[in-house]
Amino acid sequence: MKKILLLPGDGIGPEIMEQAKKVLACFPNLFECEEGYIGGAAIDKFGNPFPEITLKQSTKADAVLLGAVGGPKWDSLSSENRPEKGLLAIRKALGLYANIRPVDIWKSLIDLSPLKPSLLKDVSFVVVRELTGDLYFGTPRGYRVEKGSRIAFNTMIYSEEEIKRIAHTGFTLARNRKKKLCSIDKSNVLEAMVLWREIVEEVHRDYKDIALSHMYVDNAAMQIIKRPADFDVILTPNMFGDILSDEAAVLSGSLGLLPSASLGIKHALYEPIHGSAPDIAGMGIANPIGMILSVAMMLETSCDSADLAFKIRHAVAAVLDAGLRTKDIWSNGMALASTDEIGTRIAESILT
Ligand code: IPM
Ligand code: MG
Repeated sequence: MKKILLLPGDGIGPEIMEQAKKVLACFPNLFECEEGYIGGAAIDKFGNPFPEITLKQSTKADAVLLGAVGGPKWDSLSSENRPEKGLLAIRKALGLYANIRPVDIWKSLIDLSPLKPSLLKDVSFVVVRELTGDLYFGTPRGYRVEKGSRIAFNTMIYSEEEIKRIAHTGFTLARNRKKKLCSIDKSNVLEAMVLWREIVEEVHRDYKDIALSHMYVDNAAMQIIKRPADFDVILTPNMFGDILSDEAAVLSGSLGLLPSASLGIKHALYEPIHGSAPDIAGMGIANPIGMILSVAMMLETSCDSADLAFKIRHAVAAVLDAGLRTKDIWSNGMALASTDEIGTRIAESILT
């Protein structure tokens, strides 16, 4: 029995988590699930976006499954107390330094992408984003008034060890894929990125079978759109990875489709890459597929059950092939389905 901690969070988080639960219920006796609070939901209940109790629950769990955090209700809080702080705090506390965001195109959705179908042929890459360093966590950081004028600052900082371990993650992944790794930096301007490139080069000596290339982040933003099929593993620092992974998600047609895994030495957390979408929360129109595919990643990576992950992906494909669509991926001639219906249909398909 694997212990799974479910953290639905805010906005559409709870409704997509309900769909994940339907999928988990297809595999009885494999999991023991417990629920907890993070983000705005935890602020409301405990006055803290990552309370002690959630820390305890998550360190005991074999894996954490998370919905999304954030919303306008908490927007006026200081950055230390915002729901997003809960997500950053759990990543740091569990040592989840490697964020894996696969970008695949579903055949039945190819026309939804803003890119021409000809550019999308053979697109399948994975963004490997460093998740516990960089501007997100670097100190000093601050926001203050000096001589009557406001100043604010953050620090982009990386240690050798931090870059090394994420580079190993990237190269190891590339070994089981197309054996290509493109490392993203801004070493033409930033010292932290000069070190990034140096270390990636050094780690590459252990992976001579992998073709390594380097790209400045501005150029990468362009190349991901111009020739997405050329990428295999994209290795990126935290801040650039946040930006590039949203850009990359658009290729698939909707941000709502993409799952992610955040991995450390001892812990793992799985979550869709999209946010809490407060504007559509509670309307029953959110796309649960990114969440459900995160369950598949969890089964594969934390539960040694690649076969069950395959079943889930197969069921997602079957439901899409049957023409069922949530609003974000709906097009003429397709059947508009609610969050709940999509979840139910995917679960049914797993069981058939
Ligand atoms: C993501 C999100 C988070 C991030 C936010 C919600 C803190 O955008 O997971 O990509 O910036 O990492
Ligand atoms: Mg993001």
